[in-house]
Amino acid sequence: MRKNIVAGNWKMNLDINEGDTLLSNILEQPIDSAVTTIIAPPFIHLERFHQMLSGSNIALAAQNCHNQVSGAYTGEVSVKMLKSVGVQYVILGHSERRDYFNEDSITISYKVNHVLEHELRPIYCCGESLEQRKEGVHFDTIEKQIKQGLFHLNEMELRNCIIAYEPIWAIGTGETASPEQAQEIHEFIRSIIAKQYNPMVAEEISILYGGSVKPSNARELFASKDIDGGLVGGASLDAQSFGQLTNSF
Ligand code: 13P
Repeated sequence: MRKNIVAGNWKMNLDINEGDTLLSNILEQPIDSAVTTIIAPPFIHLERFHQMLSGSNIALAAQNCHNQVSGAYTGEVSVKMLKSVGVQYVILGHSERRDYFNEDSITISYKVNHVLEHELRPIYCCGESLEQRKEGVHFDTIEKQIKQGLFHLNEMELRNCIIAYEPIWAIGTGETASPEQAQEIHEFIRSIIAKQYNPMVAEEISILYGGSVKPSNARELFASKDIDGGLVGGASLDAQSFGQLTNSF
């Protein structure tokens, strides 16, 4: 059975002290223990948070990684390093990485492999721009991103992936995809997985929605048949909102 998941992507926010304060406040919130709850802070927080989270039900994610174990890659962080500080999940292919750092699905597919080789779980992001939606190519865009980033995996490997659908036009804009719009894409993603692999795998993969998720819209989104939770930016920076999101299923 697939899992309900709430993952907070802090993006490039909060210094050491601010991060400690937010995490301490989150730890005081009622978090639904049946929901897989994940926090993806900037790298500088990971080691400390690993200690602060021991004994809690909250797991740690990184927001990116490199695809080599070590070497002359100035400024990069490897999965082995992430694993050594307790990271269990890595967000890959976020639209901000695709847009600002020129990451394409092929590059991201190498990262997916690397994360899986180290027995961590990728949270693979996909999503169309406003122009692509207006042109009516959003299904093609998503299909291409999923195929190039994930469909080289075998069934076992794919089962260890989480997918996040994040329409770019809904990220940080306050404009959320309607539950119908999100459900339509999630169902589509499941259908292409079923075609490439089999319906059972498609049913088992958690697919998260991301894009202005907040307590006021989460319940309706998460109630949709193929939406298994959220990848949350802004609202994850507020302890109370984040706690509420885990109680929105
Ligand atoms: P917002 O929730 O701030 O729209 O960000 C979504 C996102 O990009 C999560 O990865």
